[in-house]
Amino acid sequence: MKLADNKATLSFSNGTPSMELPVYQGNIGPDVIDIRKLYGQTGMFTYDPGFLSTASCQSAITYIDGDKGELLYRGYPIEQLATQCDFLETCHLLLYGDLPDAQKKTDFTKRVTMHTMVNEQMQFFLRGFRRDAHPMAVLTGLVGALSAFYHDSTDINNPEHREIAAIRLIAKMPTLVAMAYKYGVGQPYMYPRNDLSYAGNFLRMMFGTPCEDYQVNPVLERALDRIFILHADHEQNASTSTVRLCGSSGTNPFAAIAAGVACLWGPAHGGANEAALNMLGDIQKNGGVEKIGEFIKQAKDKNSGVKLMGFGHRVYKNYDPRAKLMQETCKEVLQEMGLENDPLFKLAMALEKIALEDDYFVQRKLYPNVDFYSGIVQRAIGIPVNLFTGIFSLARTVGWIAQLNEMISDPEYKIGRPRQLFTGSPPPPRP
Ligand code: CMC
Repeated sequence: MKLADNKATLSFSNGTPSMELPVYQGNIGPDVIDIRKLYGQTGMFTYDPGFLSTASCQSAITYIDGDKGELLYRGYPIEQLATQCDFLETCHLLLYGDLPDAQKKTDFTKRVTMHTMVNEQMQFFLRGFRRDAHPMAVLTGLVGALSAFYHDSTDINNPEHREIAAIRLIAKMPTLVAMAYKYGVGQPYMYPRNDLSYAGNFLRMMFGTPCEDYQVNPVLERALDRIFILHADHEQNASTSTVRLCGSSGTNPFAAIAAGVACLWGPAHGGANEAALNMLGDIQKNGGVEKIGEFIKQAKDKNSGVKLMGFGHRVYKNYDPRAKLMQETCKEVLQEMGLENDPLFKLAMALEKIALEDDYFVQRKLYPNVDFYSGIVQRAIGIPVNLFTGIFSLARTVGWIAQLNEMISDPEYKIGRPRQLFTGSPPPPRP
């Protein structure tokens, strides 16, 4: 870490001696004040629930400028990756730090596709679930169970284990997500086809059956690939921080990623695209565009418990760059599927326009996030609403594993152990 020229001084009003704190500079973005010695020197902790002002690690993977609405993976703007690269190239970039040349891409693709099948026993494990279980409940279980099947890659401190676990997770997630879907609808599982692209293979495992050949639609394949790229990493969000914290105990990579899947499920995080689509469906049922005003009123009322799902972000205080790319994809997919007049898309555009002109949203810098349009795209592809977060987990797996591996390779890494401000009962007075 690079020391900044200045230092921070912490002073107290009660006579406790002041303390100088080093300041470090990142390559871009805000500087950080190093408080590691604070407790040792003052006996005090800092208080920052929700990590509003706390950098929990140093990282060289993803950078977000929330005010500009900029997202970079290893220095590459998301717009460039989404329009000029495919998902496996993006995986290579996130994992190893460089975009692969033709040879490296062939080698990497081969490595991933060699691991797309899952142990045959997995289907018996899957059968233990109720058919109507939420796919995220199933997926959390399936990903966690990988550690029971792949004992030879569970030592997080062994770089070779970490590498093979990374490849296995990226390769097997589409298979697991498709299995969870097929199980729910009672259709036979489709084995992966390694001559197809990553997204094409996933589409076939989802929508193909053994009864007939499945032709991959290139527009849907590209759309899904873009969804994967846009969701591949997003620096220290809740699920990534969960993976880091879970992995910091030395647990195996499969268990750490299962923790990420569980965290992503929540509606404030990965579950937001499901929630956004459900919200649009409810508005549509209750009168459509005419009722937007009434809905916006509720979303602004703190007591209503209603939020405009797919709007707002902890980091972006500008238009989420992924939302723009997703809106483009949304138009392409709807056109391909003959759904140009899709009422939910029209409703989403109208809702977005009204919210972007409303003082409440303007003042709080609440803009559409990636989830606002991704539900409409996925629904048009034929993906059921309750599988949306599963698709997000599939895409985010590479980010989780890249961040986990970065943490384990960091010589400064320690088990994560936040402290607390205790507000419970003090011990009873001694008699
Ligand atoms: N609708 C209505 N009001 C909102 C919304 C919203 N979607 N989002 C934030 N606000 C209000 C919030 O009530 C608060 O108002 P006030 O200052 O008057 O108390 C203000 O805006 C600031 O919001 P916050 O809740 O303090 O912001 P946060 O950083 O803690 O929360 C968020 C960020 C994403 C959880 C929140 O904006 C939200 O719940 N959005 C809807 C869910 C959603 O779309 N989530 C997907 C996030 S993007 C995908 C991902 O990266 O996982």
